Amino acid sequence: MVTCLQARAVFLGAPGAGKGTQAKRLAEVAQAVHISTGDMLRGHVAQATQLGVQAKSYMDAGKLVPDELIIAMVEARIAQPDARSAWILDGFPRTLPQAEALDRSLGGAPDRRLTHVIYFAVPESVLVGRLSGRRTCGRCGAIWHVETQPTKKAGVCDTCSGELTQRSDDRPEAISKRLEVYRAQTEPLLGYYRKRNTLREIDANRSPETIFQELAKLMQ
Ligand code: AP5
Repeated sequence: MVTCLQARAVFLGAPGAGKGTQAKRLAEVAQAVHISTGDMLRGHVAQATQLGVQAKSYMDAGKLVPDELIIAMVEARIAQPDARSAWILDGFPRTLPQAEALDRSLGGAPDRRLTHVIYFAVPESVLVGRLSGRRTCGRCGAIWHVETQPTKKAGVCDTCSGELTQRSDDRPEAISKRLEVYRAQTEPLLGYYRKRNTLREIDANRSPETIFQELAKLMQ
């Protein structure tokens, strides 16, 4: 059993590295709040909020949504009462200005600083297959893969029987753009956190179960 009730963690990695898969499971067993900026934005898009309307074209094209929109959204989320004890940030920060804004907003006090920054390392050649085969449950958000994590019945979620869909940014053109954007704008964060000696790397090109066991140890 993992216990990380005081965790304030950041999960870093390329699109398809498995951040969401691991964050969902860890948050469940460790009673932490899973804050996925991608899921939050997709929620805004589905509800056609002002933020959703602004974000949609960036997301569909595989580009990053502008920093000022994302930073405000995350700051508001981690200030919510349910995020007081433990949270896992999945997909944020993704640029240096976002990382600096997060540091500023957490402040320097030891009980507010990040406790874990975990980098999920996967070779780029593996990522395209993971993204193009991904299917997500529209009802409970569970993440599946047509080959590596198939459901018993094609197109139907094993967890809640909801319908599975393919994300609009998991098309080939958007996937290559997302990988390019990751290399240019997000990869530099590895150096940012290495300098602070907070980065821990996991070989995420293994089975989800093996990765989870290692993650659980790192999060103790
Ligand atoms: P977001 O939703 O965050 O997408 P992402 O970072 O591109 O990450 P993914 O969700 O694609 O991958 P993942 O690492 O979570 O992998 P998963 O576990 O699903 O962002 C979407 C968009 O929103 C961005 O492009 C941008 O426009 C915008 N956005 C979000 N945050 C932003 C920010 N901070 N700033 C600006 N814009 C922002 O796994 C992938 C697949 O692989 C699944 O099918 C899964 O079943 C499978 N899989 C997982 N682990 C394994 C394994 N170990 N072995 C085999 N298969 C596996």
